[in-house]
Order: sequence, then C-alpha cells, then structure tokens
Amino acid sequence: MMHRRSILCRLVLLCPFLLVFHHQHCTTTATRIVDLSQPWEKDRLYNRNKAYCNIQSSMHPKIIQGWVIVQDGRIVAEGHGYDHDENDLFRSYSTTKNFATMLIGKMVELQLVYINETLGDIFNNTSDWEGVSQATEKQTVTLEELLTMTSGLVSVTDEAIQDQETLQQVLQYMEYQSNQRGKFNYLGSNNILSRIIYRRSGKTPLPFAQHNLIFDKLGIPELWIQWGTFGGVEGSAYGLNTTPRTLAKLGQLYLQNGLAAEGDQLISSDWIQASTTDQLADDTESVQPLFLGYGYQWYVDRTVRDDMFVPLPQLTGAYAGQGALGQQIVVIPDTDTVIAIMSDDATYVYSYAFFATILQNLDKLGRDVDEPLKCDDFSLWSFGIRGSLGVMSAGWKVLINCLF
Ligand SMILES: *[C@@H]1O[C@H](CO)[C@@H](O)[C@H](O)[C@H]1NC(C)=O
Ligand SMILES: *[C@@H]1O[C@H](CO)[C@@H](O)[C@H](O)[C@H]1NC(C)=O
Ligand SMILES: *[C@@H]1O[C@H](CO)[C@@H](O)[C@H](O)[C@H]1NC(C)=O
Repeated sequence: MMHRRSILCRLVLLCPFLLVFHHQHCTTTATRIVDLSQPWEKDRLYNRNKAYCNIQSSMHPKIIQGWVIVQDGRIVAEGHGYDHDENDLFRSYSTTKNFATMLIGKMVELQLVYINETLGDIFNNTSDWEGVSQATEKQTVTLEELLTMTSGLVSVTDEAIQDQETLQQVLQYMEYQSNQRGKFNYLGSNNILSRIIYRRSGKTPLPFAQHNLIFDKLGIPELWIQWGTFGGVEGSAYGLNTTPRTLAKLGQLYLQNGLAAEGDQLISSDWIQASTTDQLADDTESVQPLFLGYGYQWYVDRTVRDDMFVPLPQLTGAYAGQGALGQQIVVIPDTDTVIAIMSDDATYVYSYAFFATILQNLDKLGRDVDEPLKCDDFSLWSFGIRGSLGVMSAGWKVLINCLF
C-alpha cells in the first residue's frame, strides 16, 4: 500500500517538474578547476540574457542583499539589492559554520586534532569544566558528533546563560540529552568549534586561517572578512560578515574537491568528501526540506526515503550551507554550479521563492543567446507569478503534505 502510494505520489508530482524543467541538463559536466586566488572571472554572457532578467526581476531589492551564480568556474549572473555592490558585507549567520568546518579539516590534516577525540580529551584541564553542568556527559561527546549535530547536545533556551565570553560559558551553553544522541539536533549558535581550534592550534579561527593562507588562496580580500568575536575568539556558529562572492569562493573550493588551483590541495579531498556525504543514520534527518542529509556542517541531498517528498532534479547530489534569514551556499557538482545568496528575510518567503526562481533558470544562464536588454523592475505582481511557479515546482515538503 505504502509502495503503491509512493509511486503514484511521484508520478503526480514529477509531471510538473518535467514540464517546468524540460531544459534540464541530464549530463554531468566535469568540474573546471580555476585558480581561486584570482578575482572571479565573468562569463561572456554575464548578466546578459533573459534567464538573468527572470532572476533579477524576481529579487526583492530591499530583502535580498546580493546573489551570485557561478558555472564552470565563472560568474554567469550576479545582482544586488538597493544601494549595494559586490564590496558590501552582510551577516552570513550559520554559513559561518561552513568556514569553521573547513578550518577543522585543516586541523585534522595537520594532526592537531582527530575527529574521534572527545570534548574531555580536548579540554583536559579540570579548570576547563569549572561550573559546567553535566560535565561528565559532555566530556564523552566526540568532535565528529559535533560536526554532524548528533552528539545529544541540544540548544538551551535559557537566555541567562547565552553569553559565550569564556570557554566555560560555551560549554554551559548547551544541554546534554542522552536520548537524543545519534539524532540530528541543530546546535545553531554554540561556538564550541572555534574553542577547539583555539585550544589545539593556539590560534583563534581568523589568525589560524591567515596563518594557513586560506583567504589568500581563495582570493578573498581582507576587506571582505569581518569576523565577530566572543570573548576574543571568532565565532564558529555565526559571526562572519562577508560578501556573496566570498561564499561562492568557499563553494567553488568544495566543488573543486579542495583544490585552490590546479595542483594546490588547500583542503584534503578526504575532508571534502566526508563533509559533503550524508553522515546521518537512516532514522534521523536534517530540518531542511530540500536537503535532508547532513555531512560535516553541510546539508546534503538525500535519496528519497520518505514517500512524502520528491526532491528537485536540479539538486541531485547537491549540498548546501544555510544560514538564518535566507543565507545560502549551494554546490551542484552535476552541473558545475555554485549559488550564493545573502538576504535579510525574516519571513523566508522571498528568499525561498527567489531560490526557486534561480533553480528554474539555471540551465539557461550563460548558455542562452545574449540579447542587449533591460530587465523589468521588481514588482510584487511578477514576483508572485514567478515565485509561486517556482515554489510550486520546488515541491516543498509542506505543500506535498497538504496534498496527500
Ligand atoms: C582516533 O583516530 C586516529 C586517527 O584516525 C587513530 O589513530 C586512533 O587510534 C583513534 N582513536 C580511537 C580511540 O579510536
Ligand atoms: C592535555 O592535552 C594536551 C594535548 O593533547 C596534552 O599535551 C597535555 O599533556 C594534556 N594535559 C593533561 C593534563 O592531560
Ligand atoms: C589548567 O588551567 C589552569 C587555569 O587556567 C592553569 O593555571 C594550569 O596551568 C592549567 N594546567 C595545565 C596542565 O595546563
């Protein structure tokens, strides 16, 4: 019964996909390796075709701050909200986690830490745990469990203990629930990873990254990095202010399997693979409808297991960093694509509909004929049409749950 329903479900839901996405590229393109230390190159058709206009005119210019799409290593389309340009910095919220996990990968490569080490191994001085509740339980949590959000640690809601000025406060700022161990629980704002980087490398995240030439090799100017600190330590869960082009550089590094340029392995390919492979057990899933799997602080596409959900064909094999208010870094290896969006969308409606519009136009960007044109201005009317078409075709879980 379950099985029959699931087939029906898929057929019904796939029809609109096939209509809307008949241009979909089915072939896998090889990744073009670019030298990331250089500024982004622009494609010949950069912002010069209809697909670009479809995207730009569905962008609410007061809510979306900036966006960029990279294909085959070149920017094919890019836009900004009112009064912004590519040098403006915005809050990256939890996409900061994607920078932090890259740095942990560097630490592992340098053998400064192992992912099977526990918080007790890392913070091994009794004074580290002074005043920390559930210290014995928390000490058993491994770094790998922290990276996959399956440690049994859950966010605390008690505002009184939300300071993260000291290591003890950071350790206090989470609660251990043994029945949650092995299950995905998003620890949204805890900065424990930056404390691990600091303890084991002797450097806080920004100096550690600079020491290892990470931003130089990614061609990210210092002006584009403004990293908020907690007790003098840059945040690993949030706190980085940067540009959409920076997020796209990180995405492209992952797409290039850790190569900053041909022959220059900046982050080990083993780390990239493990980070972007679903590490969750079958009985648990992330909270993002389009990316139910989770690697090391990256959301990853998961094969349908749940007959209520049909994933988007464009996102097969994709992975993403996501942050509050609509921040996104999406990497799609099959089409050699990276998408970065920075927004200030408390409703999430505009940013999700905008993302859906991007997906619908992806295969025509940089590939369609160019035409000298002027795009329509944003209007709620055209946003409504494009956005709802996009959202409908995006097969949001919630929508499907309503239908079945
Ligand atoms: C942890 O991992 C390292 C490196 O992979 C390995 O040498 C070590 O034996 C592991 N330790 C434990 C306790 O499993
Ligand atoms: C704590 O861990 C560090 C790094 O592994 C080690 O050098 C040090 O000896 C340990 N200290 C104690 C008190 O176990
Ligand atoms: C443990 O921490 C205390 C207080 O910060 C410090 O004085 C002491 O030297 C540390 N011990 C070791 C073995 O690192």
